[in-house]
Amino acid sequence: LKFVCLSNDGIDQHMIWLVGLKNIFARQLPNMPKEYIVRLVMDRSHKSVMVIRRNHVVGGITYRPYISQRFGEIAFCAITADEQVKGYGTRLMNHLKQHARDEDGLTHFLTYADNNAVGYFIKQGFTKEIHLEKDRWHGYIKDYDGGILMECRIDPKLPYTD
Ligand code: ACO
Repeated sequence: LKFVCLSNDGIDQHMIWLVGLKNIFARQLPNMPKEYIVRLVMDRSHKSVMVIRRNHVVGGITYRPYISQRFGEIAFCAITADEQVKGYGTRLMNHLKQHARDEDGLTHFLTYADNNAVGYFIKQGFTKEIHLEKDRWHGYIKDYDGGILMECRIDPKLPYTD
């Protein structure tokens, strides 16, 4: 099992994994238009943290780091159906936090969580109260009424992965 974080850089193996992740999102997030999923997953300003097992994608998180604002927006998060509730979603989020803090210099994440995923995000440290000053994120992320805006502060020191 391994965790990788990458974006559309033209490397064959990376493209194969990104297409696999796009397919998981399309299946697990049926309310999202498929073209929109492809566009963001393949967009070079987005990054994806993925769980890879035996060279296959099990799930992942696609996010956009706003480096100057020091926050990231999680666009999509999913684990393939037969591998859910085994702890992969938690480990994935921990790898995302570690990478975003240490490589991107981010302090917070924001996401529009689907109603049925709010419980998962709360377990990952997200809250419905937004503490981040509005001028740091306003105008960067779009209003979207298909979910609940949630925030997570990344601890500056905590080791999130082993
Ligand atoms: N609601 C409430 N609690 C949940 C949910 C949920 N939908 N999913 C998992 N949990 C809980 C688990 O019971 C577990 O609790 P525990 O630590 O007390 O045992 C904890 O959250 C972590 O569980 P994991 O096994 O690590 O989570 P999993 O690997 O199943 O991944 C995920 C969670 C990503 C939500 C997965 O279930 C999934 O892909 N669901 C369908 C797609 C989806 O809803 N994605 C999020 C949409 S919002 C967005 O993308 C921005």
